[in-house]
Amino acid sequence: MKRRIGILTSGGDCPGLNAAIRGVARASYNLFDAEIIGIADGYKGLIEGDYKLMKPGDFKGILTLGGTILGTSRRPYRNMRVIEEDNIDKVENMKKNYKKMGLDCLVTLGGNGTHKTANLLSEEGLNVIGLPKTIDNDIWATDVTFGFHTAVDIGTDVVDRIHTTANSHGRIMVIEIMGNKAGWLTLYCGVAGGADVILLPEMPYDPETVVDSIEYRAKTQKRNFTIIAVAEGAFSQEESKMKRKDRLKARQEKGYVSVAYQLADLIESRTGLESRVVNPGHYLRGGSPSPYDRILATQFGAYAAHLIQEENYGQTVAMIQGKIGHNPLQEVAGKTKFVTPDLPLIQTAKDIGISFGV
Ligand code: F6P
Repeated sequence: MKRRIGILTSGGDCPGLNAAIRGVARASYNLFDAEIIGIADGYKGLIEGDYKLMKPGDFKGILTLGGTILGTSRRPYRNMRVIEEDNIDKVENMKKNYKKMGLDCLVTLGGNGTHKTANLLSEEGLNVIGLPKTIDNDIWATDVTFGFHTAVDIGTDVVDRIHTTANSHGRIMVIEIMGNKAGWLTLYCGVAGGADVILLPEMPYDPETVVDSIEYRAKTQKRNFTIIAVAEGAFSQEESKMKRKDRLKARQEKGYVSVAYQLADLIESRTGLESRVVNPGHYLRGGSPSPYDRILATQFGAYAAHLIQEENYGQTVAMIQGKIGHNPLQEVAGKTKFVTPDLPLIQTAKDIGISFGV
């Protein structure tokens, strides 16, 4: 059986992409007569016809490599069907290039936006298989995405290191962790690193409650420092009444580049305690994947090869209650897996005295 497989990586990168690419390639070469076409820079390469035939040697030595050997870009789903200034019909181009490459299947490695476009292409009649990657861990119907646990390791190290300097100076340290819509990464780094306050987009905070927990620590527990882990997309209860766009604009008008700065300023003026902001930002997405993510990405990649062998297309690979499996793309596309207040880890965090600012 001969199969020509196109692979692309799309959206924000994360550690483990190369391990997953390698998993798809090596398992495909072993399971059937595979030819692999590497598509450059995500859907951009598919639209523009930027691709090349890969050789088995191209997948050597990449298990531990961060980033993606294929390159990536953000091509928002909402614009996929929109003809923009360049006058290019993106969907038609993608279909044409799929045909031109002679593909039997397209494997897309990406997050929520990537899955929406993957589903669009599947509905347009292409054979597509998705692989769930993102440090945000917010893809629907998979227990976990690859990239997440490496980012948890990095973010936890940040929280750990900030403890010593916060303690020395008796400061309030506000650590902003990536995650615009979902707070998984902040929650995990916060609990693993022993943060005192964790603020998530799913649980709009009351600034008074945050201030109270800092003062409680200072007065009752005699701890003159506090570590706050705040998700980049977190907002206050007051801000929750605004649309996201208006919220960001209002912040900018006050001179704050992000939620962490706004919070640090408020805390300093209310408590009189020196406050500092730490923003690891893209550092959380850099470098080599952890052993956990190398294994997960390899398993996901190899599983995708089996789906290709079975010609079981229109699916995305997933971890379902601890077992590798798959879900229909159409069931996953357009949905986000949020942290919910009834999550056992939230309860555990509350049990040990972590405040969520509510
Ligand atoms: O989707 C992953 C992610 O790192 C988010 O956590 C973050 O909000 C966003 O990407 C940042 O995007 P960019 O790399 O385009 O700045």
